[in-house]
Formats: sequence, C-alpha cells, structure tokens
Amino acid sequence: MNRQVRLSLKLKIFLSVGLFYLAAVGTLTFLTIRSQRDLLLTQMAERAKAGINLLELSVTGALYKLDTFRLETIAREAKALPDVDYAYIFDDKGRIVGDFNEDQHLLFSTFNDKLGMRVIKSNKTLVVIEESRGILDISKPVKLGHEKLGGIRLGFDLKPIEQEIEEATYRAVAVASTIFVVGLVILFGITMRMTKPIERLTVAAKRIEEGDLEYRVRIERDDEIGGLAAAFDQMAERLMQREKELKESQNTLRRADRLSSLGLLTAGLAHEIRNPLVAIRTFTQLLPERYNDPEFRDGFQGLALKEVDRICGLINDLLSFARPSRSKVVQENMNDVIDGITRILESEAKEKNVEITRDFAASLPKVWIDREQMKQVFMNLILNAIQAMKNEGGALLISTRFHSKDQSGQPGQFVQVEIRDTGVGIPEENLEHIFDPFFTNKDEGSGLGLSISHQIVQEHGGYITVESKIGAGTSFFVNIPVGKPARAVVKDQPSANEESFSYR
Ligand SMILES: Nc1ncnc2c1ncn2[C@@H]1O[C@H](COP(=O)(O)OP(=O)(O)OP(=O)(O)O)[C@@H](O)[C@H]1O
Ligand SMILES: [Mg+2]
Repeated sequence: MNRQVRLSLKLKIFLSVGLFYLAAVGTLTFLTIRSQRDLLLTQMAERAKAGINLLELSVTGALYKLDTFRLETIAREAKALPDVDYAYIFDDKGRIVGDFNEDQHLLFSTFNDKLGMRVIKSNKTLVVIEESRGILDISKPVKLGHEKLGGIRLGFDLKPIEQEIEEATYRAVAVASTIFVVGLVILFGITMRMTKPIERLTVAAKRIEEGDLEYRVRIERDDEIGGLAAAFDQMAERLMQREKELKESQNTLRRADRLSSLGLLTAGLAHEIRNPLVAIRTFTQLLPERYNDPEFRDGFQGLALKEVDRICGLINDLLSFARPSRSKVVQENMNDVIDGITRILESEAKEKNVEITRDFAASLPKVWIDREQMKQVFMNLILNAIQAMKNEGGALLISTRFHSKDQSGQPGQFVQVEIRDTGVGIPEENLEHIFDPFFTNKDEGSGLGLSISHQIVQEHGGYITVESKIGAGTSFFVNIPVGKPARAVVKDQPSANEESFSYR
C-alpha cells in the first residue's frame, strides 16, 4: 500500500508540473509560429505593395489612352515578376483591358469572382490573403487627379512563403521539444529529490512500526523535511529508551513471579528433600554395626546414590527455574518441556491430593521456544489449577496435541497444550479479567501469573484460551505456532541487570 502511495505522490507532482510545463511550452511555440507567419505575410504584402506602386506609374498613361497593346505588355511584364501568379489591368467600368494571358481570352470581360467585384468598386489598395487558393491578392485603383481610370490587380503565389512558414514551424517544434524533454528530465530530478526523503521517512515509520526501533532516517537537510527527519529520529530514540525501560520492568516482574511460584512450592519440596535424607540418615546410623554385611553395604550404596541423585536433579530443576537464563530460542519438543516442569510440581500436587495425568501426542512437531519462559507459563497454569482444587484434591490432566486454527479461526499450525483441572471453575464475569495484571481472588496472590503467561505466549506468536464451568473445572489451552520463531522472542535479550542474577 505504501509503495502505491509513494508512487502516486511522485506521479502526482510529476504529472501536474509536467502538464503545466507542456501547456506553457506548447502555447509559447504556437505563439512563436503565429508571429513568424504573420511577419512573413506582412513582408510579402509590403513587397506586393511596392511592386503595384511601381506598376501604377507606367499604367496611368496607357490606361488614359486605353492603349490595350501597351496595357497587355505591362500585364505580361508584371506576371514575369517573381512569385506573381496573375496580373490584370481594368478600366473604370471594371472591364479587363490588360490581360497577362497569351491568348487574351479575358480581354474586355469583367471579374466574375466575389473579390473581383470588391476590387472594381474599391477606391483604396486592397490586400486579401486567400488561403484556400494559396494566393495573396493585391489591387490598387489608378487615378488621374480625382478621376478613377481603372485599376491593377495582381495575384502573388503564397507557396514559397508557406514553405518557409512550414520550415519555421518545424524548427520551432524541434527546439520546443528539446526544451521540453530537457525540462522533463530536470523536473524528474527535482521530483525525486523532493519525494526521496518522504519515501525514506515512510520506510522508517514502517520499520519502527514493525518493531525495528534502531532504524534511523538520518536526512541532513536545512529545510522542513530535515527538521521532520530529525524529530522522527529523536522520537525513535525515545521510543527505544521507553521500550528498554519497559522490558526491564517486565523482567523484574517476571523474576518476582518465578520466585513467588517457587515460594509456593516450599512445603512440598521440603518434604521431597527430607524423606530421602531421613532414609540416608537411618542407613548411616546402622552402618557401623552392619558394616560386614556386604548385602547391606551394597543396598546402602545403591539407595544413597539414587536418593542423592534425585535431590540433585530436583535442586537443578529448581535452580534452572529460579535463575533467569539468557534468552535462548531453540526448537524444542513441547512434551519434554512439560515433563521438566511437572517434576518440580509433583510433590506440591501430592501434598494437595492432586493426581497429575499426562496425555501427550506422540509425534508432535518441534516448536521454536525459549524453554525457561515456557516453563514459567506452565508453572503458573499448573499452580493455578492445583490451587483451584482446594484441599479436597482432584485430577489434573495435561495433554498435548496438534491444533490447526489460529485465534481468529483461520487455518494455522499450532502445538496445543491443555491444562485441565477439576477445580472450582471461573465465574463468567471474571473470565475477561483473569489475564489483567493484578487481578486475583487469592489472599496471597499477586495476580501477575496469568498476565505474564499471556505476554510470554504472545511473544512466541501464540495465544491462550480458557474454558470453564463453575464447580466442574477449568481448561487452559496454550497454543504455540509451528514454524519460524516469532520475532519478539528472538529479539529478547537480557539486560545488564539480569546478568547479575545469573548463577554462572
Ligand atoms: N485454573 C483456575 N481455576 C479457577 N480460577 C482460576 C484458575 N486460574 C486462574 N484463576 C483465577 O484467575 C485469577 C488470576 O490468576 P493469576 O495466576 O493471574 O493470579 P493469582 O494466581 O491470583 O496470583 P499469583 O499467580 O501471583 O499467585 C486467580 O486469582 C483466579 O481467580
Ligand atoms: Mg497464579
């Protein structure tokens, strides 16, 4: 769409100025040709007038005497002048008394054309251009004193002049076309120079809208566009700063959420660690007196190793969850991620009489995820489910499957994880608020769990939906897209602050 807008802006300026320019050059060329033509015709008329004036001197006497032989000679001589097409001398009654034609066939006849009638009656020199015939007709009355004796009528051929006008027209059009083309090239250059920075601003706005906050326009100009670009870059800089601050506070919240989730597990975990330690302590107490019993020794060693390994594994899981690791987006099998997190939660579930059942789809496609962030999502959802089942316990079903619809029901490819509990359910009026930050109905709750989970899933390009029935239970569906990693998670880098929390 933008490309179209950019093109049309360029095109609009180019077309409007271009058309105006064409009209200006066209009008100027037309006026030049017209005045050139008028000039040539005036010159011709002047020449014709000079010629007819000259003839008048010799015609007067012959006409007075009505010497037709002399008049015929004068008419022939006049016809011999350059570009003269016809030459007639007529008497005061309008009869032709000097005919340039060899056979004198018009002698004593009168002009039968319209102009001829005017010529006979006129008392002035008449110059008429008859374009249809290609002739300049000039006539002049011949007088002796006040008495009109007759007149002379000459026709000049306009062809040579027309040819000259044609050549002048060609020349003018050629010069005008050259000027027009050169002007167009210059206009194109100016248009480009004007629209280029606007194009760059448009690209920059688009890049920033897509999340590339490091993109800058960098147009150094002293005009308004330069000012706009500088303001734009400054705005992007501030936006980047804000985004950084926002990210930092989000990270702080996420850390707090992780630690508070761990806090909820302490009772169950203490149990989980104390039981094997009690067993090891009992064996250690018995060791001095049963030292010589190889069966006891082997049994003790096997059990101690197994229990210590279990405790180590649990502590490792806890540490990996507690410490915010470097953001790492890799292709993972969702079933493994859930397995990892349920290990830590199992003791808490047992404590609350909740039975966890898994129903994993066997051949799920791998998804691009940040394992630690995803674990945080499932930790929140599973803890919520356990808490929803109160003290009487219940069943918690964690299932995975392939899902082929996106949030708006359009076709898509997702891996879906469902966490279903048999807890109290969520009242309908609360359903639209549970993802809001700080929405909670628990005395000890922060109300951040679902809002953070929602944010993490969104950053992965996925979405969460809920189905709930009061008294029957709730299902949370986490959908993570199959395919390329979402941009938001790839870009997510830990801040300097976060590093200081690292265990490494
Ligand atoms: N599985 C569930 N069954 C019933 N209600 C739920 C369930 N999950 C969430 N809720 C409701 O949504 C609210 C918000 O959950 P959220 O995880 O955001 O915060 P919280 O659990 O109250 O606090 P925190 O997560 O900080 O301990 C909960 O207080 C609870 O009322
Ligand atoms: Mg919660």
